[in-house]
Amino acid sequence: MSYIYLNGDFLPQNEAFVSVLDRGFLLGDGIYEVIPAFNGKLFRLAEHLRRLQQSLDAIHLQNPLSNNDWEHILKQLIEKNGGGELSIYLQITRGVAPRDHVFPKNTQPSIYAMSSPIEPVKATSLQKGVSAILLDDPRWQHCHIKAISLLPNVLLKQEAAEQGCTEAILIKDNLLTEGAASNIFIVKNNCVKTPPKSQYILGGITRDLTIELALKNNIDCQETAISKTDLLDADEIWLSSSTKDILAITQLNGQIIGSGLPGPMWQKISKIYQTFKTRLK
Ligand code: PDD
Repeated sequence: MSYIYLNGDFLPQNEAFVSVLDRGFLLGDGIYEVIPAFNGKLFRLAEHLRRLQQSLDAIHLQNPLSNNDWEHILKQLIEKNGGGELSIYLQITRGVAPRDHVFPKNTQPSIYAMSSPIEPVKATSLQKGVSAILLDDPRWQHCHIKAISLLPNVLLKQEAAEQGCTEAILIKDNLLTEGAASNIFIVKNNCVKTPPKSQYILGGITRDLTIELALKNNIDCQETAISKTDLLDADEIWLSSSTKDILAITQLNGQIIGSGLPGPMWQKISKIYQTFKTRLK
């Protein structure tokens, strides 16, 4: 039985309920974070809490807890759920109030956190890479907020899944934004490139760490606009996310990328990334 954290209590999952008037349930009025824990240890916690604060600021919701409180709660949650490789999901909504689009006054936010095991990436995905489709990015202009209202992402990811693909890579005004649930990198002539942060992408924690590690290891890495043509013409394409690390995309819209296998730059960065992770364990 897994334990969850809800508004101050740790409860068995089947004993935890939220009100049907919760604004997260009715209006999608809330934000979330996904923080990985490796070997029971929170990974890049400070960075995730910083992004949490940015999301809260963007929706004008006060952080209900201090960073120390968050750390304490999440560590307890990990311990209660047996540690190991976990993905911690936490969400804050504007709380329970009569349904009205306008913010309610004096309402306590609802705070929720759960953990689930991180499924190890399949050996074949590591050896052969994964496939993706290209789709138009229909989302709004506040994708930098980690909002719980994920319907566009759900529909995009579903379309990818129905076409047997792992990810949907999104294009807005002929430029790459990100994946439906990941950031995207390309490699061209040994230079690693990813779109700059903007209101059209989520500033991924894995993305930032990938850039940091690339630069530290003297890999040429640029945050720059990437066109649809650049993408289709790339030597390598990768996705990055907290639950998948860095994964090579070797087929896009049925077209083979590079050699059709994870490329040499992916081999290099992936090794650096995994070493960084194990050093922290
Ligand atoms: N999503 N962009 C989008 C739209 C995402 O949903 C995610 C991750 C990322 C990568 O961010 P990070 O490296 O911080 O995980 C980028 C998580 C894992 C999710 O919603 O489950």
